[in-house]
Amino acid sequence: MRSQGLTGAITMPGDKSISHRALMFGAMAQGETIISGLLEGEDVLATGRAMAQLGAKIEKRGNYWHVEGVGVGNFKQPSEPLDFGNAGTGVRLAMGLVGTYPFVSRYEGDASLSVRPMNRVLNPLREIGVEVVEEQPGGKLPIALKGPANPAPIHYKTPMASAQVKSAIMLAGLIIPGTTTVIEEVHTRDHTEKMLQGFGAKVDVTTDADGVRTIKVEGLPDLRGQEVLVPGDPSSAAFPMVAALIVPGSDLTIENVLMNPTRTGLITSLIEMGGDIELTNQRKSGGEDIADIRVKHSQLKGVTIPAERAASMIDEYPVLAVAASFARGATHMPGIDELRVKESDRLAAVANGLKANGVDCIEGEDFLTVEGMGDQVPGGGMVETHLDHRIAMCFLVMGLAAQNAVKIDDSAMIATSFPSFVPDMTRLGAQFGKPNH
Ligand code: S3P
Repeated sequence: MRSQGLTGAITMPGDKSISHRALMFGAMAQGETIISGLLEGEDVLATGRAMAQLGAKIEKRGNYWHVEGVGVGNFKQPSEPLDFGNAGTGVRLAMGLVGTYPFVSRYEGDASLSVRPMNRVLNPLREIGVEVVEEQPGGKLPIALKGPANPAPIHYKTPMASAQVKSAIMLAGLIIPGTTTVIEEVHTRDHTEKMLQGFGAKVDVTTDADGVRTIKVEGLPDLRGQEVLVPGDPSSAAFPMVAALIVPGSDLTIENVLMNPTRTGLITSLIEMGGDIELTNQRKSGGEDIADIRVKHSQLKGVTIPAERAASMIDEYPVLAVAASFARGATHMPGIDELRVKESDRLAAVANGLKANGVDCIEGEDFLTVEGMGDQVPGGGMVETHLDHRIAMCFLVMGLAAQNAVKIDDSAMIATSFPSFVPDMTRLGAQFGKPNH
């Protein structure tokens, strides 16, 4: 429903990527890892349950999550399949982390995860000598893996820009004697590199003149439990940020947001579109850049987003498309074919949602062009969310500024990454109608 200005301050839930990794690396390291700010969303909780099945002890005491890890190479064979629910990061990183062990491990997920491509991880694992004991046609879940008696280190160039694939190979490399090398042409989020170094792994990263990164991981390191401070998730901050830009009268401060340069492409893009966005209180915490974001309602203009920026804002395109709907002029987003293999086919889901709400757009195989309508976005449509939290949230944001209410078919998935989204946004002044079942 069209809302009055959004005002006040909001703190973001913990970063999803760092939360998954904190539980996994804590489970693998020797001794205790203490995590504050962990995202308690469904995706991350599924990873926590999987780590417990592998032998780690995980419990929440007060505001802290305590993980008692087993030490590198000491996971036990899980007696039941590891169920990652909706989480691509959870399952792909876990297949790297555990798949190389010389026992059978099984991986499964929900209906959305079960149609997502896993060959991107299975292929490098096969090169290491991992046997894919069970898979569904096209390399889909459920999958069972069995590691070789003598895994071999590989030298692997990732064929697509994917931090999940890079991370899976790096994690597999941890239990392989020798040096495992991953080459990535596009700099994707580097939380695995940074955090593994923090846990004591030897990870060497070099970047050549063309920006191609070579990451070398030494096998069999002695990893020790750490204190991990999880900063706020920039991918969640994207929703209140765009909401404040498009709802007239808004002036919002979003506190404690991760500013790792591999994650800030949306902020750069929204500023180019004329967004009044100011970073305040910039600081370092747990080896990462953090800031508060002050954002005010702004008249946006259409721009072309450089394809090279895609990796640094890959999860933010759906909500950028919503911002673009309220801009003057067209916004062109090339180089986004990876959106087709996220929690849903996000390119199609966004294009269909925009059209259902009276916004013209062109959906190409690997691009989206949105015809901005200024403050005249009709709304009034019903959006199919396809079990995708970000599709649900981005169209709820659209509804806050559209002329008519925007309906979504399901809001349950929001709990995977931002469980407090509706109450938090309501506190800032957002008005959401009741679902009519
Ligand atoms: C993630 C990497 C990205 C991103 C996902 C989280 C990670 O996926 O979309 O939400 O934590 O490594 P890809 O690696 O498939 O691009």
